[in-house]
Amino acid sequence: MSLKMRTSYKTLYLTFILSSICIFLYQYHMAIPRMISLQQQSINDPNLPPIYIITPTYRRPEQLAELTRLGYTLKHVPNIFWLVVEDAVDTTQLVTKLLLKLNIPFAHLLAPMPEKYRKNKVKPRGVSNRNRALEWIRANATEGVLYFADDDNTYDVEIFDEMRYTKKVSMWPVGLITKYGVSTPIVKNGTLAGFYDGWNGGRKYPVDMASFSVSVRFLLSRPNASMPFKPGYEEDGFLKSLSPLKLTEIELLASNCTEILVWHTQSKKNPNAMPLDTAKYNSTNLIQLRQIIV
Ligand SMILES: *[C@@H]1O[C@H](CO)[C@@H](O)[C@H](O)[C@H]1NC(C)=O
Ligand SMILES: *[C@@H]1O[C@H](CO)[C@@H](O)[C@H](O)[C@H]1NC(C)=O
Ligand SMILES: *[C@@H]1O[C@H](CO)[C@@H](O)[C@H](O)[C@H]1NC(C)=O
Ligand SMILES: *[C@@H]1O[C@H](CO)[C@@H](O)[C@H](O)[C@H]1NC(C)=O
Ligand SMILES: *[C@@H]1O[C@H](CO)[C@@H](O)[C@H](O)[C@H]1NC(C)=O
Repeated sequence: MSLKMRTSYKTLYLTFILSSICIFLYQYHMAIPRMISLQQQSINDPNLPPIYIITPTYRRPEQLAELTRLGYTLKHVPNIFWLVVEDAVDTTQLVTKLLLKLNIPFAHLLAPMPEKYRKNKVKPRGVSNRNRALEWIRANATEGVLYFADDDNTYDVEIFDEMRYTKKVSMWPVGLITKYGVSTPIVKNGTLAGFYDGWNGGRKYPVDMASFSVSVRFLLSRPNASMPFKPGYEEDGFLKSLSPLKLTEIELLASNCTEILVWHTQSKKNPNAMPLDTAKYNSTNLIQLRQIIV
């Protein structure tokens, strides 16, 4: 091989390698905006049925911590709408601030517990909140699914993908409930054969609040459905109010209820913080922190 020919082969190789790199870089560059837009699209995909997340809450030491944790979970879920309903007369400014920061579509509503229940030893917490959210859905939603997601649970985002297509009512197991460690539908040969829950209390549906979702259309077809102010019987009462509903119509998610995708974590209950000595700590950061802690 002549020297001249070898040089021209070298040039050819070099040209080939360089153009390959150029093509690769060009395609990669072109792909970046597409990857980003695909991600954004999945967050706002109008073709996905919306999920209305209903979260009752009230001012207490753990409130902001729990809402922060739940909020960042929900940020992973496409096409959701978060109904945060406070048992309060005025909205808590710090909750509003958190909702705006999270940048999830939301409605911040108020539903104080009626005075007559406030004296009860066991208060029906969260009931007026959830009924307020149902009222919002009846007025503003036409399709999709609703889910009562309390702020003291842990959610695997997979459960949201699964519940999204609920026809009437879907159910699945919830971990860390009662001495049984789990509350779940009993599934035999792919069909609902009863319920496993540490406390039955004569309920038709001995299930946890976080264990079921309801289709919006189904709710709209049951204009009288609501949650009763009856501690321990909120889930049962609400599901019964959706009647007629056949047990065979209940969809069993989480792989025929063999997986736990929701946990009733609960936070340790914290006592209210001691009052701050504002004279001693005047002109320090503690004055601002005092606004946040309860
Ligand atoms: C429906 O949504 C609108 C707009 O966000 C709101 O003003 C209205 O209060 C909602 N309806 C109910 C019953 O909550
Ligand atoms: C299981 O269910 C199928 C229908 O889904 C039915 O054909 C079959 O007989 C059932 N098997 C038993 C053991 O019940
Ligand atoms: C649930 O169980 C039924 C019956 O055994 C089976 O046909 C079906 O594929 C199962 N579904 C899932 C999601 O595992
Ligand atoms: C809803 O409740 C009202 C009053 O209790 C009753 O008259 C009506 O028949 C109920 N409607 C349905 C669809 O159950
Ligand atoms: C706190 O300090 C400011 C000056 O830094 C003073 O004007 C104010 O009176 C002090 N307040 C209290 C409660 O001590």
